[in-house]
Amino acid sequence: MSNSYSLMVHGGAGALQHIKHEGNEAKFERSICGILEQGRNILEQGGAALDAVEYCASLLEDDPLYNAGRGSVLNEYGEVEMDAAIMRGLDLSAGAVASIKGIKNPISLARQVLEHSEHVMLAGHGAMKFAEFQHIKVWPDHYFITEARVKQLEEAREAGQMILDHEDSEEPQEKFGTIGVVARDLHGNLAAGTSTGGIVNKRWGRVGDTPVIGAGVFADNTTCAVSATGYGEQFLRTVLAKTIADLIDFQGLNAQEAAAAGIKYLVAKVNGLGGVIVIDRQGQCAAQHSTSGMIYGWIEQSGVAHHQLASPV
Ligand code: GLY
Repeated sequence: MSNSYSLMVHGGAGALQHIKHEGNEAKFERSICGILEQGRNILEQGGAALDAVEYCASLLEDDPLYNAGRGSVLNEYGEVEMDAAIMRGLDLSAGAVASIKGIKNPISLARQVLEHSEHVMLAGHGAMKFAEFQHIKVWPDHYFITEARVKQLEEAREAGQMILDHEDSEEPQEKFGTIGVVARDLHGNLAAGTSTGGIVNKRWGRVGDTPVIGAGVFADNTTCAVSATGYGEQFLRTVLAKTIADLIDFQGLNAQEAAAAGIKYLVAKVNGLGGVIVIDRQGQCAAQHSTSGMIYGWIEQSGVAHHQLASPV
């Protein structure tokens, strides 16, 4: 056993001024700190990083503050369509689901794919068939859809664009609410998980980086665990999570250096918007973002829990 555990969670990156304006800062702080302490309970008792990641991600999915599970953003038909992935750093085993509906905890369905299927990713109808096979309940639409998301979709429709169209807009609407968790347990095992409703007013069938291993999520015990949040297409094109792991592998960087170099690469190559959380194999924690803010929290090497909200770049 190694002598410490580390845990990081994020609740998305973007322009977070609206959180302050709406007086929601304290809600986010309570949520992030509470979830970190619940994850700590698993890790300090010798629990697996993969279990801590699944559990913390499911708590974030259950909280309508975030764009994942309940409270996910709506697609162009006003529906919730979700993506999630989870990865174990010990053996690079992974499970992912894309374009699923009615599943309360997509991260747990992704875990089932990892544990009980011979595949890495299941999408749409096939993923739902698999869920049925695993006796996972389908929840009604009203569980997922919140008033705030209906209003947000109406605004996007009125503006005649998906929120991902911000590249052409003078005032980018940076709101990327993907959630993610990375952990290192007392055995030195790393794990990562990411879950999202995607982007507001997205086209039917659009899948971002979240369920794509190496783009939105990656874990390898010999390097690091990464979870990303941001404009999915840009993270797909730069394979960002694996790029960060490669920076550690081939250039010997630590978590902080690799996160900074990864986001620098994202910006240099595709002018990318988003952020990452990273725990390296020593249990060092790092976060970096190219958006004006990011919601995240961390417990480094069994220490006290910290959180960060709407911090400057
Ligand atoms: N990063 C989440 C998405 O683009 O779907």
